[in-house]
Amino acid sequence: ALIKHFATKLIAWHGKDGRQGLPWQSIRDPYAVWVSEIMLQQTQVATVLERYPRFMKRFPTVKKLATAPLDDVLAEWAGLGYYTRARNLHACAKQVMEEFGGEFPKDPVLLEQLKGIGRSTAGAIAAFAFHERAPILDANVKRILARLFGVDGAIQEKAVNDELWLLAKTLLPKKAPDMPVYTQALMDFGATWCTSRKPICLSGERKCPFAKECQANLTNQILVLPRKVIK
Ligand code: ADE
Repeated sequence: ALIKHFATKLIAWHGKDGRQGLPWQSIRDPYAVWVSEIMLQQTQVATVLERYPRFMKRFPTVKKLATAPLDDVLAEWAGLGYYTRARNLHACAKQVMEEFGGEFPKDPVLLEQLKGIGRSTAGAIAAFAFHERAPILDANVKRILARLFGVDGAIQEKAVNDELWLLAKTLLPKKAPDMPVYTQALMDFGATWCTSRKPICLSGERKCPFAKECQANLTNQILVLPRKVIK
């Protein structure tokens, strides 16, 4: 039953207790979505809130970014850390101009061919910008799924990773227009409620909407899952 109702319940949770009004939640321009996803990967939301509008003002289009000198992009990235992301951003912008005629592709398989875009980020861009029924599976989502469905193998193992991707795909909302809110809800639930060390179910601060169905909760394995090493 959880599989069938997961997307609906998660979206309902987001409407009530998810993070609202973050600027990138309302954007659908693929370029703007892509920049926000790369920035959010390894930088705190509070910092991105300050720096994202500035970056978009400096480089408003993929063409402007692609034609700018790399040093200008690196200078604008100053303070955001993990500078490989800035180099990849510039290289990816050039790739979009040269290989895709200046338009981001909507197929996650094609998005994944772009510099600096992994499988999960490809899914996020496809879902947010194109409403594609593409799954994401970052560390937060792995934790949510491992707990809810009691996936108890080490997540570094390929078979376990494959199982989680399959689960992520199975849980997608049936309606494509629900993809952006669903994807954001999944990210927010992992970042704020189903957290690694102080999940809501253990702190008792709020009632998790999945408490009665969560395998990890039912078997007292919340802090054990996801398993990081071989048993
Ligand atoms: N981390 C990566 N993408 C994100 C998003 N869209 N919202 C919040 N955190 C994120």
